[in-house]
Amino acid sequence: MDKAEIRQEAASAAASAVEYRRHLHKYPELSFKEEATGQYVAGILEANGIGFRKIAGTGILAKIEGRGDLKNAVVLRADMDALPVHEATGLEFASCNEGVMHACGHDMHTAALLAALTVINRHKKQIEGTIFGLFQPGEEINPGGASLVLKEKPFDGYTVRAVIGEHVDPDLPTGVFGFREGKYMASSDEVRITVSGEGGHAAMPHRLKDPVVAAAAIVTSLQQVVSRNANPDIPTVLSIGRIIADGSTNVIPDSVFMAGTFRTFDEEWRAQAKKHIRRIAESTASAYGVDASVNISKGFPSVVNNTELTRKVSELISATFGNDAVVKLALRPTAEDFGFYTQLYPSLFYRFGVGGKPGSRNAGRLHTAQFDPDENALEYAITGLLTIAFGI
Ligand code: NI
Repeated sequence: MDKAEIRQEAASAAASAVEYRRHLHKYPELSFKEEATGQYVAGILEANGIGFRKIAGTGILAKIEGRGDLKNAVVLRADMDALPVHEATGLEFASCNEGVMHACGHDMHTAALLAALTVINRHKKQIEGTIFGLFQPGEEINPGGASLVLKEKPFDGYTVRAVIGEHVDPDLPTGVFGFREGKYMASSDEVRITVSGEGGHAAMPHRLKDPVVAAAAIVTSLQQVVSRNANPDIPTVLSIGRIIADGSTNVIPDSVFMAGTFRTFDEEWRAQAKKHIRRIAESTASAYGVDASVNISKGFPSVVNNTELTRKVSELISATFGNDAVVKLALRPTAEDFGFYTQLYPSLFYRFGVGGKPGSRNAGRLHTAQFDPDENALEYAITGLLTIAFGI
């Protein structure tokens, strides 16, 4: 299909996408509990004669075979999970599931991919190889649905030439796409430290092994990882956001628990930094005569966009919508389990604007009860997916 045909198809598929999106928005489900969402997706695929199977529990993997070498594949991925947020948008299709809301736009991603697949399926003889539509569960929480998808090795035996993920961006106007070559989003690991000493009467610390003072020293010393160990060229964040020393004015507790997040943009440094965190916590504890046990959970890797693929897709989007429709994104310290795909396959994660016309509306922020993306953006999101499916 050429540019004009793609735009026409996207425009006519957009009405269905709005309908899908409103249904999904009304019935949001939390990570790894996307049962009804998966069934809804399956129903639409079935009605359109698109083959699929379940994956990673509640996920759905659709497959459309085109022409030529069918082992040559492109994966279009949408996430499906919602967040534990009480919706306060007042929309007529607001969440019916109390305390759960599509506050990160994953309803938009799922709806756009569903609509795009129906178009692709009708024109599949113009597609090179195989297109997978991956409706992925559990993006929002560890271990990330992407890691569970890949554990099942669904693309073994295929040459995957691209894995594509798109995400809403309320800071961009509708019709604008954001790209960034190379490193884009941070890795994210959870750090938990328990400092164990010997509690007792706070008036007689000389008889105790005080874990509170030691824990305070550990929080401070850990900042060396960022200020002294990290290469200034690699953005790094280590934040301790939770610290519990549950004693009293006159009671020193036996132990102190703390937890935080470690984020960075380089996998080699990420592995080294974890060793530094462990060493600093343990040796600081030891200097205070107490023990520290350090647990660092394996979180999401950083999202690294394939340079060639990013250039190609942003050029295709510019050719369709003009140079003003493409902007360069800044590094982002938030994380995405899409990083798991970027480690294995040439991948691209880009943003599409849902902010409406500049000054015309307020889409709110991601992960808030007021988040209200512009539905007109669905047409652009579908165009993006079709442009990739038919163009790369
Ligand atoms: Ni999200």
